[in-house]
Amino acid sequence: MRNAACSVYSFGFIGGAVPMICRGRPGLLRRRGFSGLPSVPQVSDYSERESDMARYKIAWLPGDGVGVEVTDAARLVLDAMEFDAEYVPGDIGWEFWRKEGDPFPERTIRLLRNVDAAMFGAITSKPVKSAEAELIPGLQGKGLVYRSPIVRMRQVFDLYNCFRPCKAYPGNGLNFKEGIDLVVFRENTEDLYAGVEFAPVPVELSSALGRLSKAFSPFQNLPPDQYAISCKINTRHGSERIVRAAFEYARRHGRRRVTVVHKANVVRATDGVFLEAARAVAGDYPEIPMDEANVDAMTMWLIKNPMNYDVLVAPNLYGDIISDLCAQMVGGLGFACSGNIGDRLAVFEPTHGSAPKYAGFQKVNPIATILAAKMMLDWLGENTMAARLEDAVAAVIREGKVGTYDMGGKSGTSEMAVEIARKLS
Ligand code: IPM
Ligand code: MG
Repeated sequence: MRNAACSVYSFGFIGGAVPMICRGRPGLLRRRGFSGLPSVPQVSDYSERESDMARYKIAWLPGDGVGVEVTDAARLVLDAMEFDAEYVPGDIGWEFWRKEGDPFPERTIRLLRNVDAAMFGAITSKPVKSAEAELIPGLQGKGLVYRSPIVRMRQVFDLYNCFRPCKAYPGNGLNFKEGIDLVVFRENTEDLYAGVEFAPVPVELSSALGRLSKAFSPFQNLPPDQYAISCKINTRHGSERIVRAAFEYARRHGRRRVTVVHKANVVRATDGVFLEAARAVAGDYPEIPMDEANVDAMTMWLIKNPMNYDVLVAPNLYGDIISDLCAQMVGGLGFACSGNIGDRLAVFEPTHGSAPKYAGFQKVNPIATILAAKMMLDWLGENTMAARLEDAVAAVIREGKVGTYDMGGKSGTSEMAVEIARKLS
């Protein structure tokens, strides 16, 4: 069973040069006084410190909206498993934007530098102008620009691998087809998400583009505030490492094929880099066939023949889009979990947003966040615990006694979590 194989490896180092070791160890050693601390502690204070020290330090970032209740639900099941962690809450989200003008404050960045992993809920994002209007009066008119904290986090910590498994758990009435088991590897730091954007367009830029690109001529004489430019930047390095992550995963988990999703027939420069990088990396995995698909056709083929696909790898924006499509085929965003994985830190989250209209009603499905916690356990090397948790989720889905509104049921967020926790005991 692929599922079982999935739990055997920590996928944190896929594609990196770091050896396959349990991710939990470096943090554990760090807090035990090794790795960079000035002196080895005395035996007496060592054992005293050990006794109240948890095995893992996890940053806990609920965010806002339903982020709060779904992370509470994940915490309930982690506690039910007696996962040995110290959870350190971190500030992130809309409240900090409004009051401080920064939804991802420096103190949260510092916290993330000092943990083994992080769980993240959801945050509200709004377009630049409406975001500015919600700042407290003292912060308005200061030129503060809202940028999604999760996108920033991915960049600040180089969490380049967005790993999104989409599995149809047997018996889920929302499955598009039984047996779907897709894994999306989405590049997570580059592409149209690089954040290099201009609105209005500076004259230096429009005149340079006018000189350098014939295709720019229809735009060149537009008034600067009548158009905008967002740069799509794809590097060879960034493309290679995500494709390698996909192939490594396929190799370790006995997957059949890797499909590279692109639009290189039109977006020739940047998607050309991605595709060329993919072809080069594929050469190192002769036993795994790679195929290539244009992103538009891919959305069609995925609906038509989802069983023909296995591991998908895509640049950032196409990965964002196809991972929602894949999520919908296995029950929707209530089931879609996501890992943002770098070489030093990994942040796990449900793929869904903050759904402000449901916030506080205990209505939304916590399974996505609970499966994100399962991914975190795997990444930390706690594979047995991860498998137990996944089995519990699968059992609750299969039995169908407890279901949230998206599943056609009447149960609330915490009732679902309690039922999953019950299966764990
Ligand atoms: C996702 C989300 C984010 C993204 C948003 C919330 C910024 O859609 O994680 O898929 O676009 O990456
Ligand atoms: Mg998305």
